[in-house]
Amino acid sequence: MEQVEKIIDEKLQGKALVTKSVEGNSKKLFIESYGCQMNMNDSEIVASILAKEGFNTTQSLDDADLVLVNTCSIREKAEQTVRNRLQKYNHAKKRNPKMKVGVLGCMAERLKEKFLEEEKIVDLVVGPDAYRDLPNLIEEVDAGRDAVNVILSKEETYGDVSPVRLNSNGVSAFVSITRGCDNMCTFCVVPFTRGRERSRDPQSIIEEIRSMQERNFKEITLLGQNVDSYLWYGGGLKKDFKKASELAKATAVNFAQLLDMCATEFPKMRFRFSTSNPQDMTLDVIHVMAKHRNICKYIHLPVQSGSNRMLKAMNRLHTREEYLELVKNIYQIIPEMALSQDMIAGFCGETEEDHKDTLDLMEQVKYSFGFMFAYSERPGTLAARKMEDDVPLATKKRRLQEIIDLQQAHSLIRTKEHVGKVQEVLIEGTSKKNKDEWKGRNTQNTVVVFPKEHYKVGDFVNVQIKDCTSTTLKGVAVGYSENN
Ligand code: SAH
Ligand code: F3S
Repeated sequence: MEQVEKIIDEKLQGKALVTKSVEGNSKKLFIESYGCQMNMNDSEIVASILAKEGFNTTQSLDDADLVLVNTCSIREKAEQTVRNRLQKYNHAKKRNPKMKVGVLGCMAERLKEKFLEEEKIVDLVVGPDAYRDLPNLIEEVDAGRDAVNVILSKEETYGDVSPVRLNSNGVSAFVSITRGCDNMCTFCVVPFTRGRERSRDPQSIIEEIRSMQERNFKEITLLGQNVDSYLWYGGGLKKDFKKASELAKATAVNFAQLLDMCATEFPKMRFRFSTSNPQDMTLDVIHVMAKHRNICKYIHLPVQSGSNRMLKAMNRLHTREEYLELVKNIYQIIPEMALSQDMIAGFCGETEEDHKDTLDLMEQVKYSFGFMFAYSERPGTLAARKMEDDVPLATKKRRLQEIIDLQQAHSLIRTKEHVGKVQEVLIEGTSKKNKDEWKGRNTQNTVVVFPKEHYKVGDFVNVQIKDCTSTTLKGVAVGYSENN
């Protein structure tokens, strides 16, 4: 189980997020983020809103005037992690009684006012669409009142808020393009905590990327729960598109077009995107990827299960056959493409046969990476209300381990394919294991380490790959790449 825990913990790593201080600001904000990349990006938006209110970020919990934790509800363990952190804040508050504590994100949205009863230490509860209200809510708290805003919005995309980059490596950054999700997978809490899907104005996306380029960032990951469903038609919910005017419909921008716009406008920047839901992924996107060398050849394409019965129960709106057809087409258009998966082991009613279908699908695709989880029932979801969580924990864990073991074997097959090749790597920082080596990623998102020589962070370097493990490529730089 050690490996499972590791994969899960990587996704849940809470970090005190800090940025450069803004001159004149005197109040101190300690902000931590758990869960997905979208949460990390939201924390950057929150820090930006609060910088205007006189807050600088701090890494020291004890010094903080305001402590905010951006939370994740995706699995029970994620919520438990946050509750444990609240205990830590409790100790800090005893030392510094003036400190205020706020909960942001998905747990705030899920539990609402209940949070204030369940966790006495919490002063304010703010859902993902209410961060602009933080200044008012903090005033309420300062006046001695509890403050809660968990209203979900039809419009909010924070398109005009320029996020301050917290704990950034100065090279790669996230830019949100959609918020919310309309898919209603039966196991998933996200549609309840993040609301209905809406897309951000492409112009504001381009402007944000331009400002990142001016600050020397080299790689942008476009973020959304379901990026392929992106659709800008002047604002509003995706589900209301059919009610839009003919003109709005005719001038609408979809994900393939947005990606094309970004890659064309910024030929020196590298682009990634996450996450792609197979049912919304079009081959137009793949053709745009093939057209631009600066769009990375990697797609995170979660499938959750290889069994048609399970896919149906999960309300994933495609079959195993349709998924495999999509994968075949992707490999045909871009043979060097890397794919990764999310899998859930032990969903309601899963039999040994269903599990074998998952392993078999993995054999056919041979993913480069995977994020694998045991099913965790989430209150309020259709699965929790209508289906029985009937796979025993031991069985879930055993199946999960089999999925992880197979993924590890496939990851090694995939990393070996890179050995002997020369690949472009964007240097992100020093390798964790060796201070004399750089760490970066190739286009397929595989980590590459190599001796530093005269290169520096942010350089695009061609690296001759000499060796590999299942997670890392080792090589030697042979010069700058043409992109440098
Ligand atoms: N579209 C999203 C998916 C968010 S959830 C994205 O941007 O990543 C991330 C993954 O968590 C899902 O793909 C699924 O594999 C897993 N997950 C979601 N709900 C879960 C649950 N109740 N139990 C176990 N895993 C879950
Ligand atoms: Fe969740 Fe399915 Fe959306 S996994 S985030 S409901 S695509």
